[in-house]
Amino acid sequence: MSSENKKVLLEIKGLKKFFPAERALFARVKHFVHAVDDVSFDIIEGESLGLVGESGCGKTTTGRMIVRLEDPTAGTIKIYDKPVNDYERMNYHSIVQMIFQDPYESLNPRMTIFDIVAEPLNIHNIGTLEEREAKVMELLQKVGITPPESFLWRYPHELSGGQRQRIAIARALVLNPKLIVADEPTSMLDVSVRTGVMQLMMQLQSDYNVSYLYITHDLAVARYMVNRIAVMYLGKLVELAETEELLHNPLHPYTKSLMDAVPVPDPEYKRGEPNILGSISAPIDPLPICRFYDRCPYREILGDRCKTQPHPELKEVSPGHFVSCYPVHEGKL
Ligand SMILES: Nc1ncnc2c1ncn2[C@@H]1O[C@H](COP(=O)(O)OP(=O)(O)OP(=O)(O)O)[C@@H](O)[C@H]1O
Ligand code: SF4
Ligand SMILES: [Mg+2]
Repeated sequence: MSSENKKVLLEIKGLKKFFPAERALFARVKHFVHAVDDVSFDIIEGESLGLVGESGCGKTTTGRMIVRLEDPTAGTIKIYDKPVNDYERMNYHSIVQMIFQDPYESLNPRMTIFDIVAEPLNIHNIGTLEEREAKVMELLQKVGITPPESFLWRYPHELSGGQRQRIAIARALVLNPKLIVADEPTSMLDVSVRTGVMQLMMQLQSDYNVSYLYITHDLAVARYMVNRIAVMYLGKLVELAETEELLHNPLHPYTKSLMDAVPVPDPEYKRGEPNILGSISAPIDPLPICRFYDRCPYREILGDRCKTQPHPELKEVSPGHFVSCYPVHEGKL
């Protein structure tokens, strides 16, 4: 997507979140999980960005900081060039919303569908009761909960997982936000309804001109949903590029290994070389070296430099394609 004439909607710089790794009562915390460790990226208005990586790499924590459910340990998050904490919390949530992974937990079981979707309008004191009802009906229609009037006074437990997620999407849209952080919104749904919800989200993106930060561990899902993909590994952003560029020309050894696990419907696509070693661990007090070092099949390529130098900077190696890996920077991989 061209960024010409488009405003930067979200800008993240040097974002960090460290959690205490142990919670002994009265004990001083000595060890920290570096859940998100110096992450920077932006989203242009109308664009969608995928945040991809294995379980525990920091995707949800990044999303939760953006919607202000979590305070960063360090770094800045700006929306339209203004730090998020300079927004009144209420105004902020009319610009940025979140859709959670679990549609069974994210909707209040004691509220009717009407109350759930209309609640943000009530909080912001928008419209009369009739206007709110009309808005909720319009949104239910849009998200495929039809006929809307037969759902207004039902409760979440009367709905399927897919229907609940559609309600969560309607609620997220009711204030016409500019950005929706969607945290694996289809991963807990029945396989048979996933594609329908993804198609709906694509349609709504163009109807409402909303951007997504779309969190997923699945590159095939990201390919369908987003313009650019950012790959995380143990708290670090290791590669960022336009979707097709990333899928056809993955440069970071970790992205290459992820590609090996994804069926890409393209006969021209050549499988990457070796698989990664070992398994992922939690980033507790990680060494300052490349965070992928223990699992990287290319780590000897520059002698022991991958082990002695700090974690590589994310560097632009071709227009819009950023990667964090020394041998790639030096043209040796
Ligand atoms: N509240 C917390 N307290 C302590 N550690 C946490 C907390 N929340 C997350 N973590 C740790 O931070 C790391 C990143 O977690 P996060 O949930 O952001 O990962 P994720 O990429 O969303 O994983 P998944 O794909 O499993 O959802 C993990 O090691 C996790 O255990
Ligand atoms: S910097 Fe070295 S260890 Fe890290 S991903 Fe690149 S080759 Fe592997
Ligand atoms: Mg998560």
